[in-house]
Amino acid sequence: MSLASTEPLILKSRPLQGRRVLVTGAAKRIGAGIARCLAEAGADIAITYHHSRADAEQLAEQLESLGVRTAAIACDLHEPAQITAAVAGAARALAGSGQERLDLLVNNAGAFETADLEHVSVAQWDAMFQTNTRAPLLVAQAALPFLRVEGGRILNIGSLGGLHPWATHGHYCASKAALHMLTQTMAKAWAPEVAVNCVAPGMIVTGAEAEEGYAHFLQKTPMQRNGRVGDVAEVVLYLASATMFLTGQIIAVDGGLGL
Ligand SMILES: NC(=O)c1ccc[n+]([C@@H]2O[C@H](COP(=O)([O-])OP(=O)(O)OC[C@H]3O[C@@H](n4cnc5c(N)ncnc54)[C@H](OP(=O)(O)O)[C@@H]3O)[C@@H](O)[C@H]2O)c1
Repeated sequence: MSLASTEPLILKSRPLQGRRVLVTGAAKRIGAGIARCLAEAGADIAITYHHSRADAEQLAEQLESLGVRTAAIACDLHEPAQITAAVAGAARALAGSGQERLDLLVNNAGAFETADLEHVSVAQWDAMFQTNTRAPLLVAQAALPFLRVEGGRILNIGSLGGLHPWATHGHYCASKAALHMLTQTMAKAWAPEVAVNCVAPGMIVTGAEAEEGYAHFLQKTPMQRNGRVGDVAEVVLYLASATMFLTGQIIAVDGGLGL
C-alpha cells in the first residue's frame, strides 16, 4: 500500500476487523476491558448490561469512536426470554443490512459472594448457579445458530475458584467448576463449527478496589503482582483469533497463583 493511500493505516493492525462479538455483563470492570480490547482490534461489539445502563451506554459510545459498530442491550440473565431476545438483538444490530451472524461470544457476566458453606441458603445457591452456570449455557444456546454461520468461538469466563476450593466461597467455586465442565461439553458437542474455551482469572484488581487490600494474594503469586483487567483481555484477544484446533481448554490467567 502506498503512503498516499486514503485507507487508514490503523486498519492493518486490526486483526478482528469485521468480526462480530457479543460480551455479556460488559458495562464495567473486566467485561468492559475485554470489549475495549476487542474493539481496538477492530471487532464490532455488542454488550449486555443489567443494572449498569449508564456505564454501558457510555462504553458503547467510546467504542463507536474507534470506528466499529456497537450495541448496548439490556438483559437480566436470570430471564431466559430476555436472553433469547438480547442475543437475537445483538446479531441484528451488528449485521447492519447483511446476514446475521456472530463470530465470538464471551460469557463474562458473573456473580461473586462470600457465604459460609454451612449456612448457604437455597436462594443463594440457585442465584449463583443461575448467573454463573445456567446463563452462559442459555446465552450459548441462543447464540449457536449465529455462531455456526461462519464457524465461531465461545469463551466462558470461569475462575481460579473453579479449579481450587475457596472455603468462604463454596457456592461460587462450585458454579465456576460447573462452567468449566460445561466448556468442555460444549466444545465436544458443538465441534467442528464452534470452538469453546474458558479463561479462568485469578485475583484481578480492577482499579475499583484498593490494591493494598489484596497484598496477601500478591505474596502468594509467583509473578509477584495481582492480575489486571488487561491480562484477562489480552488472553481473550489471543483466543478470539487462535486456531480452532484449540478447543475445550481451561486457561488460568493467574500469575501462577494456582500452582
Ligand atoms: N474480578 C476478579 O478478580 C475475578 C476473578 C475470577 C473470575 N472472575 C470472573 O470474571 C468475570 C468478570 O469479573 P468482574 O469482577 O468484572 O465481574 P462483576 O463486576 O462482578 O460482574 C460483571 C457483570 O455481570 C453482570 N451481571 C451479574 N448478574 C447479572 C444478571 N443476573 N443479569 C445480567 N447481568 C448480570 C453485572 O451487570 P450490571 O452491572 O449491568 O448489573 C456486572 O457488571 C466474571 O465472570 C467473574 O466471575 C473475576
